[in-house]
Amino acid sequence: MLIKHPADVAPSDITPRAVFDARRDFMRSSAIGIGAALLGAGLPDKAHAVAARGKTLGPLVKSPYSTDEKLNDFDDITSYCNFYEFGTDKSDPARHAHRMATRPWTVSIEGLVHKPKTLDIDDILKVAPLEERIYRLRCVEAWSMVVPWVGIPMSALLRQVEPLGGAKYVEFVTHLDPKEMPGTRRQVLDWPYVEGLRLDEAMHPLTIAALGLYGEVMPNQNGAPIRLIVPWKYGFKSAKSIVRIRFTDKEPLSSWTKSNGREYGFYSNVNPEVDHPRWSQERERRIGEFIKRKTLKFNGYGDQVASLYTGMDLKKHF
Ligand code: MTE
Repeated sequence: MLIKHPADVAPSDITPRAVFDARRDFMRSSAIGIGAALLGAGLPDKAHAVAARGKTLGPLVKSPYSTDEKLNDFDDITSYCNFYEFGTDKSDPARHAHRMATRPWTVSIEGLVHKPKTLDIDDILKVAPLEERIYRLRCVEAWSMVVPWVGIPMSALLRQVEPLGGAKYVEFVTHLDPKEMPGTRRQVLDWPYVEGLRLDEAMHPLTIAALGLYGEVMPNQNGAPIRLIVPWKYGFKSAKSIVRIRFTDKEPLSSWTKSNGREYGFYSNVNPEVDHPRWSQERERRIGEFIKRKTLKFNGYGDQVASLYTGMDLKKHF
């Protein structure tokens, strides 16, 4: 992985729109895309992309944690989404998420803390310098993308409330409004969507509160206005549209573990050695590519995070 050095950059310097538009057009017309579709790889349905464009966030600081891999284009990232509150089809979030009002928006941070707080999203944007973090996202469904997120270290946000010594875990609870979210009228998951991390995972420098992507405010379908990103875990750990963060002394029960604990464990670290009960996790398809690539343990972030799990049997604690 190429290590980049932090430097202030304007959002427009990050990834010129022309570059990724050209790349997208190439991918659309290429036989690679057609081949993947023929193989049932399920290329993104771009017909309904309604991503917010134009409102830039910045200035941004480049992160030494960014990968230098080729980015997925804006349309792929915003049209091939998982956000079950808007429906279970990959194209549903892009079709319906514009209904979600993202202002006013507050996040309450509570539980085992000295100073519980309810923070307005516009104040959260000022908690720490905004960074561009280009991360691989590996979904449990064995596909992956490379996304230029904009965010702040989650630790900067969590420190605002001064966690108590007894806090061991952090629970993330997300927005629920059946009027805005047609998918919640069906009980596919136990709403609201809940995820959890161990405190040291939540405070790890790689973990971010993401507030945008491609230098712009977060598109609704990707979890506006604030979502979790934990790049060494399967994508479902990264809860979208967070409204409450709670410090606890007990392992939080996530919506996925609650729905099927045999298939979705608490840790959910990307691990090619541990199959999902219904499919292998050895390989993944990078969206836009034809040949599957090998999945890397901890999604390739092992140097930074493997020590968090020293002494743990990761087949048992999957
Ligand atoms: N957060 C909420 N609130 N609801 C969801 O359905 N899906 C998860 C995660 N966060 C989900 C969520 C899953 S399964 C994945 S793979 C990622 O979001 C997808 O993020 P993306 O659509 O931005 O790629």
